[in-house]
Amino acid sequence: MIEKIKETQRYLLEQGIGKVDFGLILGSGLGDLADRICEAIIVDYKEIPHFPVSSVAGHAGKLVYGKLAGKNVLALQGRFHYYEGNSMGLLTYPIRVLKALGAHSLIVTNAAGGVNLNYHQGELMLIRDHINFMGNHPLIGPNEDALGPRFPDMSHAYDEAYRSIARQSAAALNIPLQEGVYMAFSGPSYETPAEIAMARVMGADAVGMSTVPEVIVANHGGLRVLGISCITNLAAGMQKSLNHEEVVETTQRVKQQFEALVMGILAAL
Ligand code: HPA
Repeated sequence: MIEKIKETQRYLLEQGIGKVDFGLILGSGLGDLADRICEAIIVDYKEIPHFPVSSVAGHAGKLVYGKLAGKNVLALQGRFHYYEGNSMGLLTYPIRVLKALGAHSLIVTNAAGGVNLNYHQGELMLIRDHINFMGNHPLIGPNEDALGPRFPDMSHAYDEAYRSIARQSAAALNIPLQEGVYMAFSGPSYETPAEIAMARVMGADAVGMSTVPEVIVANHGGLRVLGISCITNLAAGMQKSLNHEEVVETTQRVKQQFEALVMGILAAL
């Protein structure tokens, strides 16, 4: 793995990707934020050695490097999902690369279904914590001690200081911001109403099919993490039916708020 990371890193350096401070993973329908990156260097996933390739509609499949809100960011415009058939190791590989390129922090975003009865479609949720319900874990297997410890502490998986800054930025921008627990299912089916009832009892405020593997690996590598969910729909059983078009439609509707918030937070970090 270390050798592979070095090869990927070398390739990206050759493309002109320099110092990275913040990694940014843009979820379903949220990729347009990468278009705001200044002095952008864009690299197709397909061209990058050892990178997985993303296949979901609404996920572009590019790395975008440059300045966003004055910070050096490397954005993943399109993420990799477990349900696409990627191994957990492969789908979190970009996090290893971000770390190798110097990133100290990761901002993860996703589309999620609202489980909390007080949530509304189109709201943004700061992720306070997560529940890994995917039935797998990205760190299963031999530990690479050079990359992180065998038993990483997940007590502060979502950085408290960053969350505080996010709340302040949201307030300053007059953007309502919920805060809650994200529970990850493998997908690709949406959950059943019974699963959502269970998720609520277990302490979930929102559900989705991503993010948790990346956040585990980021914590393993010592990155500070900030997570934002866009509540694109109410979860199964709370509205008539669910579909991906609605998910993307909601992200498009709230994209101005979402982009303003992420940029406000980045500026303040
Ligand atoms: N469930 C799982 N993933 C999702 C949802 C949902 O309701 N909405 C957007 N992504």
